[in-house]
Amino acid sequence: MKPPPACRLDQVSLSLGDRTILQSISLEVGRGEQVAILGPSGAGKTTLLRMLSAGLPPSQGGVRVLDQNPWQLKRNGLRRLRSKIGFVHQDHALVPNLRVWQNVAVGRLGRPGNLGHIRRLTLASPSELRDLHEVLEQVGIADLLFQRTADLSGGEQQRVAIARSLYQQPALLLADEPVASVDPARAQQVMDLLLDLADSRDIPLVISMHDLELARRNMSRLIGLRNGRVLFDSTPGEVSESTIKELYALASQENEAP
Ligand SMILES: Nc1ncnc2c1ncn2[C@@H]1O[C@H](COP(=O)(O)OP(=O)(O)OP(=O)(O)O)[C@@H](O)[C@H]1O
Ligand SMILES: [Mg+2]
Repeated sequence: MKPPPACRLDQVSLSLGDRTILQSISLEVGRGEQVAILGPSGAGKTTLLRMLSAGLPPSQGGVRVLDQNPWQLKRNGLRRLRSKIGFVHQDHALVPNLRVWQNVAVGRLGRPGNLGHIRRLTLASPSELRDLHEVLEQVGIADLLFQRTADLSGGEQQRVAIARSLYQQPALLLADEPVASVDPARAQQVMDLLLDLADSRDIPLVISMHDLELARRNMSRLIGLRNGRVLFDSTPGEVSESTIKELYALASQENEAP
């Protein structure tokens, strides 16, 4: 029997106030898939990722994440589900004054902001430190374990954010524009890192990004989002130049409309 998809959106729409942010989105992300979400600024990429991460309920339609409906779960069930979803935020969402190991350790303590957990961050057991060192080794910055996070470069902080998501031992990994602020060579490095990690752990990966060529070269499926709607959902070879032009050009015309 085919395993259930990691996430499934069924005719999902989201309205906030009088604005429609996502419209009638249906898609599935299967186990082991590597998907890029493309689209101009404001298209709804971050919102869609939040929907897939069980972070935001839809106004209409059905959502299943890791074979559960997040919005029928009680608080503890929702917390457990979220603990299995790694989310690398666009702005990294790290606490600057904490040491690198502390920011990574947050991965297993639930989503940021849980003050009850702060106490556990003052001391790590030798076995926790071993695990933290190992995950930082996987992202290539084990030597920064005890550094203050604020002192790291942007690229290093991004690796800390990736390490934190991995330390969660996620069953699904989502990354919001992880290559937005790095140069082209580093962008490919970060992509290689995310793809290798997802491959070796056999977890589905969904990345939002702006760089079409990078997406084409690295991802097996591209989803084009425009004005909260799916314009295409296909393999890189199937996406034509004219479709790409439409993805960006139409949106800019609409943005310019009075
Ligand atoms: N909480 C909110 N309240 C009102 N509008 C919102 C909210 N969150 C997002 N939006 C709007 O939804 C639209 C989609 O936003 P989203 O952040 O998902 O876009 P994006 O594709 O990720 O853009 P970018 O490439 O700039 O990150 C935007 O027009 C944004 O202003
Ligand atoms: Mg965004």
